[in-house]
Amino acid sequence: MNIFIKPLMSIIATTICVLAFADAICAQELRGDSVSDAAQSKLLATFFQSRCVKCHGKQKQNNGVRLDRLDPRITDHASLTKWQDVLEVLNKGEMPPEDQKQPEKDELTATIGLITDNISRPAGY
Ligand code: HEC
Repeated sequence: MNIFIKPLMSIIATTICVLAFADAICAQELRGDSVSDAAQSKLLATFFQSRCVKCHGKQKQNNGVRLDRLDPRITDHASLTKWQDVLEVLNKGEMPPEDQKQPEKDELTATIGLITDNISRPAGY
């Protein structure tokens, strides 16, 4: 993982784990371990579940975007493009739409950090 992002992510992951009560991640963070790929996937899934899936999930897929089963591993051009779209709307603050409950700043920063990191080191692509 990018050495610059790592300490920041650790702090942020701790914040999220408290917010999301994600026990496995909390235990790992409190022990001072780095956040594993599995834990990162869980953080992303938790974020999408709470902030996005009601409009981009099984029932509704606004703009054809479905986020409830987006694999964090970037394996081909299609998955790269999907993640870039997600990153763009988060960076610009376009999603969730402004009439919706907005993510906490730390939560958003952590999510953007994770996605940026994933995009910068695609797996097997
Ligand atoms: C209240 C419903 C709602 C929620 C919650 C919501 N979206 Fe959307 N989303 C939309 C609608 C409607 C569109 C299509 C119209 C538009 O672009 O504004 C859209 C479009 C998008 C697009 C495509 C944008 C493009 O330019 O093609 C992406 C990517 C996206 N959303 C990601 C997200 C993410 C990530 C979250 C959670 C942080 C989220 N959305 C939460 C309703 C929602």
